[in-house]
Amino acid sequence: MIILKSAREIAVMREAGRIAAQVHEELRKAIRPGITTRELDALAERLIRQAGAIPTFKGYRGYPASICTSVNDEVVHGIPGDRVLREGDIVAIDLGVTYKGYVGDCAYTWPVGQVSPEVERLLQVTREALERAIAECRPGKRLGDIGYAVQSYVESHGFSVVREYCGHGIGANMHEDPQVPNYGRPGTGLVLRPGMVLAIEPMVNTGTWMTRVLPDQWTVVTADGGYSAHFEHTVAITDQGPEILTLP
Ligand code: CO
Repeated sequence: MIILKSAREIAVMREAGRIAAQVHEELRKAIRPGITTRELDALAERLIRQAGAIPTFKGYRGYPASICTSVNDEVVHGIPGDRVLREGDIVAIDLGVTYKGYVGDCAYTWPVGQVSPEVERLLQVTREALERAIAECRPGKRLGDIGYAVQSYVESHGFSVVREYCGHGIGANMHEDPQVPNYGRPGTGLVLRPGMVLAIEPMVNTGTWMTRVLPDQWTVVTADGGYSAHFEHTVAITDQGPEILTLP
């Protein structure tokens, strides 16, 4: 069941989204060789609570932290811990905040110091894939148009799109219908309507799209050990077109 949001609800989601984006900006400044992912998690939780919001992920299905930190071949849902970030790593930070009962969800992947040209290109392509997906978020377009925008762009650059994890509807709950795959055929699937709010989150790998889950039951890694990047925004579909709600 798809829950359409009123203009008033979207206004609250914009506030939640702004908090999420502002926390991301602070995390970005904190990223440097030598910092642990646990330190990033602690900083995020403090900033989220200072803003009067709740870290949506903490306790979600038993998830133990406020953010996900997925390093190098980790695709999503990496759990913050003792891991020390090193020069040349990439770290995907995913965070959700609940504010006044609504959720903002967004993710960025950052380089730690200098990274290889191929990894730099992976970050650029994934970021651009998200932009292209967002451009499809207008009334009358379909879910397949979003997936196609991501898949066609990513594959034309020689990278692959993760299939086992998708974007999602979002609102009072982090995960609502529909699922938003990052692959698809244009002109197919659900028709987008004003009031829909979607979390769009391409996950892109340098090698195979296939993944596996580590024994911690959370961390998703690429099956071949290739690098993976992840960007996400919460986007409202309006009569005027897409509105990114997770902006600072
Ligand atoms: Co999400």
